[in-house]
Amino acid sequence: MKSTKYVIGNWKLNPATLADAKALSDELQSSLSANLSCVLGIASGFLHFNTVRASLNDVLVGAQDITHKTGDTGAFTGDVSAKQLADMGADFVLVGHSERRQYHGETSDILIKKIAHALQNNLSVVFCIGETKDEYSRQQTLDVLSRQLDILATFSGEEPPQNALPKILIAYEPVWAIGTGLTPTLDEIASVHEFIANKLSKMGLKAPILYGGSANENNAKELACVSGVDGVLVGGASLKATSFCKIAEAFSAAC
Ligand code: PGA
Repeated sequence: MKSTKYVIGNWKLNPATLADAKALSDELQSSLSANLSCVLGIASGFLHFNTVRASLNDVLVGAQDITHKTGDTGAFTGDVSAKQLADMGADFVLVGHSERRQYHGETSDILIKKIAHALQNNLSVVFCIGETKDEYSRQQTLDVLSRQLDILATFSGEEPPQNALPKILIAYEPVWAIGTGLTPTLDEIASVHEFIANKLSKMGLKAPILYGGSANENNAKELACVSGVDGVLVGGASLKATSFCKIAEAFSAAC
């Protein structure tokens, strides 16, 4: 039996208007072919979340962040909590994306808190990991990933949320591949995914492992056939409904 594949879009800080967010999600919903076998998700911005969720019947909708300060409510001006997000009907949240680590100084301590708040509030976590260009050049990829994965040991005993996703999904996203048009070779992706699966299993965890970084409609078919690739996290190409649908079709048909 083929394993479940996951195709998740990360809209980042896009689009600029609610009207465009609605148009994009409406177009996506109407372009999806009826016989897709993969699980689809979109991580929308907070402001557009409700509209996007209302448009997308066949796609899970999540967010790109939650506060680490509390899982609930409190005096944290400007923050959004896991509880509020779950109440809006979210299924998942991205945690540890390299843009959050880089531009918002998110440390392991912060990420642990975010994951704990998400799981306690019935949200699945798409946990993003990846090495920088420098680390890749110095052949430190596996050391970096190993350290980034260590924080998940805390969560090996947690019960899965009651939704269509596992409690944790890993997204392996080399930082140098994000938005650049560059990708590792398929062999490199296969061996990194194998490393991640082994590392998770030593920690008593099993999670789907997605690839992310310049995934698009042209490379989706080959990515979908790489051993150990359980899906894909798509940035730029998820902003075009037709591209996202083609990626979804490639993963539905995956070897
Ligand atoms: P990209 O982004 O597909 O535009 O490279 C992926 C991501 O940041 O999740």
